[in-house]
Amino acid sequence: MKSKLLIALSKGRILKEELKLLERIEITPQKNPIKSRKLVFETSRAEVSILVLRGSDVVTYVRHGIADIGMVGKDVLIEQKDEGFYEPLDLGIGKCSLMVAGLENESAFSGRLKIATKFTSTAKRHYALKGQQVDIIRLLGAMELAPVMGLAHRIVDIVETGETLKANGLVPIEEIIKISTKLIVNESSYKTKFKDIKNLINELESSL
Ligand code: PRP
Repeated sequence: MKSKLLIALSKGRILKEELKLLERIEITPQKNPIKSRKLVFETSRAEVSILVLRGSDVVTYVRHGIADIGMVGKDVLIEQKDEGFYEPLDLGIGKCSLMVAGLENESAFSGRLKIATKFTSTAKRHYALKGQQVDIIRLLGAMELAPVMGLAHRIVDIVETGETLKANGLVPIEEIIKISTKLIVNESSYKTKFKDIKNLINELESSL
């Protein structure tokens, strides 16, 4: 008998691509998660169910073994402790960069650089590695506004097409890391459900 598998997907702009990947290996949810307000979905495979969560909650559900498998952006993973799960596969979707950006006509600053971001751990680590002391200002969205309004000198944020930066008079300054969506697997699920999880990884890998 096949083991029950619970897969946690990240909602937002990568959800459509995550669903497409699953569809390629003939796992389709009974209802469309993009339209439905439901958060848990049965699928075309009786043993597979899907959860749709915020990226950081995907990591939490997988780390605690509630979900066996997750799909989540590398930007979310590097903000968290990489404990309790493996990261066996790059899914090749959700490609973008985590960048430092600033105003196109940035004036010279004195004192400590102020960086607005929701990626606070990654930004801290980035500047610590450069040996530069900065003040990190935590924002949850619309980071591009911070330099325009004078809240911060620069931002650390996801850049995909560069349109949002451009529309707000900002330019990319430095790439911190290239981002894509990763498959993560709970460590103990990987042991107890090895055959079924390994099969699923192989199916996904050969469909990429
Ligand atoms: C992300 C990011 C930028 C934008 C970049 O936000 O924070 O604002 O996308 O994309 P672009 O380079 O193609 O313009 P998202 O729309 O994912 O929403 P969020 O603010 O909730 O992260």
